[in-house]
Order: sequence, then C-alpha cells, then structure tokens
Amino acid sequence: MKKSYMLLLGLFALSACNKTEQAHVAALPVAAAIGSPSDENMPLLARENNCTACHAIDKKVVGPSWIEVARKYKGDSTAEARLIIKVSKGGTGVWGTMPMPANDASGKKQDQVKALVKFILALDK
Ligand code: HEC
Repeated sequence: MKKSYMLLLGLFALSACNKTEQAHVAALPVAAAIGSPSDENMPLLARENNCTACHAIDKKVVGPSWIEVARKYKGDSTAEARLIIKVSKGGTGVWGTMPMPANDASGKKQDQVKALVKFILALDK
C-alpha cells in the first residue's frame, strides 16, 4: 500500500474518532475480526466490495451511515437475513429515494456480504 494512501486512511480514522469516540470503540473489535489492518473504521471487506463508495460508519454518504442502520434494526431478529438479501439485490425506499445497486453475492462473495451485514448490525451493540 502506498504511503500517501496510508496517511489518508490514518487521517480519516483520526477525524472519525474525534467525532464519535463511542462509535469508534464499538467498531474496533469487529473490524479487527473481519481483518482490517489499517482502517479501524471501515473493514477491509467494505473497501474491497466498494461499500465505502456510498457508506461510512458514522455519517450519511450516498447511503445511510452504518450506525444508523444498526440502530434501526436493533433487536430485530429477522434483520440479518433480510439485509443480506437487500445488499445482494439492491433496493430503495427504506432510507429515501436513492437506490442501492445490486452487489454481487455469488460464490464466496455471499460470505462476504453476510460478514458485512453482521458487522453493520453489531455496530450498535
Ligand atoms: C452506489 C451506492 C451504494 C453502494 C456501493 C452500497 N450501498 Fe448500501 N445503500 C445505498 C443506499 C442509497 C441505501 C438506502 C436504500 C434504501 O433506502 O432502501 C443503502 C442501504 C444499505 C443498507 C440498509 C438497507 C435497508 O433496507 O435498511 C445496508 C445494510 C447496506 N446498504 C449495506 C451495504 C453494503 C454491505 C455494501 C457493500 C457490499 C453497500 N451497501 C454498497 C447505497 C449503496
């Protein structure tokens, strides 16, 4: 990884920390479990699958902040299965009119989408 890119990630992580220390602390162990060596906020999987183009942990980008998603579905035992399908197929109307495009969830990608949804839902625990 290029030095400048690392620096950018570091800066992003720092600024996110200052804003929501709590979110940062909550996200850390899960991100580490998924395997992010350099960005404590968004897991490596989220960057590899391009989720980061539209999502951040603690702020709305194109799509809702992942902490908001976790809050919305807190205590909803059917959420994980439903969100795996939603992320795979895409959809709109829950958070506004902006659609989320389908995300490839074939083969090993299916495990990745599942891991990401688990990560998101755990952000409010
Ligand atoms: C091109 C932009 C874009 C990308 C890329 C994207 N999303 Fe989204 N995402 C959205 C939008 C917009 C919504 C809101 C959809 C709605 O209102 O129903 C959303 C909603 C969600 C939700 C909440 C769904 C619900 O029904 O409450 C989850 C979970 C989610 N995204 C996860 C992911 C994951 C994981 C990835 C990467 C694999 C990803 N997104 C990639 C734009 C995106």
